[in-house]
Amino acid sequence: MFNNKAYNILTLSILLLLLSACNSSNNTTEVIVEEEPGDSTTENEQEDQTQTEDEQPQEEPEVEEEEEIVLPTDELQKGDQGDHVQTLQEALAIVGYEISISGTYNLETVWAITDLQMQSEDVFVTGIYDDATKLVLENYLKEEVTISPGEGLPLTDDKYLDDETVVIGNPYEVLALINKQHALPVDYKPSDMVVPDVRFPFVEDLPKKQMRKVAAEALTKMFADADLESLDLFAQSGYRSYETQDYLFASYVSNHGEEQANTFSARPGESEHQSGLTMDVTSPHVNYSLVTDFGETEEGIWLHEHAAEYGFIIRYPKGKEDITGYQYEPWHLRYVGVKAATTIMERGITLEEYLEEILSE
Ligand code: DAL
Ligand code: ZN
Repeated sequence: MFNNKAYNILTLSILLLLLSACNSSNNTTEVIVEEEPGDSTTENEQEDQTQTEDEQPQEEPEVEEEEEIVLPTDELQKGDQGDHVQTLQEALAIVGYEISISGTYNLETVWAITDLQMQSEDVFVTGIYDDATKLVLENYLKEEVTISPGEGLPLTDDKYLDDETVVIGNPYEVLALINKQHALPVDYKPSDMVVPDVRFPFVEDLPKKQMRKVAAEALTKMFADADLESLDLFAQSGYRSYETQDYLFASYVSNHGEEQANTFSARPGESEHQSGLTMDVTSPHVNYSLVTDFGETEEGIWLHEHAAEYGFIIRYPKGKEDITGYQYEPWHLRYVGVKAATTIMERGITLEEYLEEILSE
């Protein structure tokens, strides 16, 4: 009896203990849930908040930032194509040039670059986008100023003079084709001419000592390097006005007849000498004259191998008379820039062939 009673009391005590433990455990769980960090809202409350945010207008509307143009770092020129040309054209459009954003460095782009260079100080005028031109354009973009297009060089189309000859619209570009089919404007006289620091076989201060700055600087460097090789180069004849060429050609015609004269002398307007990008060079080994034997002298051979490093080509090569329209002239150097000159001289082609290739690609 006692045992049964004792058993019942024991069972009751265990039950009470279990019940108490269970309650105490529930309390602990509640405390943990309440203390969980950052969880002070219920799911429903969160949904409500999200809806409220969606419905309310944003306090500060996002300002659309203009993407900064990163100008190309590579040199670009007529005939080049691709993203870099497109970026350049976009930058030119921002500063005020209404040109097509085609991704092709066409005549319109050449004009815009030439015009920009003509309106800037301390930049060679070439029509080629180079490091100096990049800096100029970067400044225009940074200062947020616009340019007056055409103030440096009015935009002029090539114009047919007659059935066979075009007068070129941009005589300032160094890749301009000047030949029997492509003439310079009668009144073209480059505005950026200087006398290169080279030897001449005469002392008079004549206009034929002059060249355009970009060509004069390249010629000076080339002569200095030729001196280091103990060569004896002399500059004989650079810039020639339309009128001077007219006079010269007329005198050759009276001695040789027009057809013969035009194999070695250009009609006025068709001479590269009027461009200021050309220099006839010679040496004492041919008595300072302009003769084909000059090509066989040390100076002539060195020029054939190295002129391109300075941006010059032998403009009228042997065997290309049908293309250039003129006899072989190893003395007649024409500045076109290092990139074009390197291709032309390495491949033994003419400026006519080079331009036809790059413009038809
Ligand atoms: N001798 C070259 C062709 C000129 O007269 O320009
Ligand atoms: Zn010449």
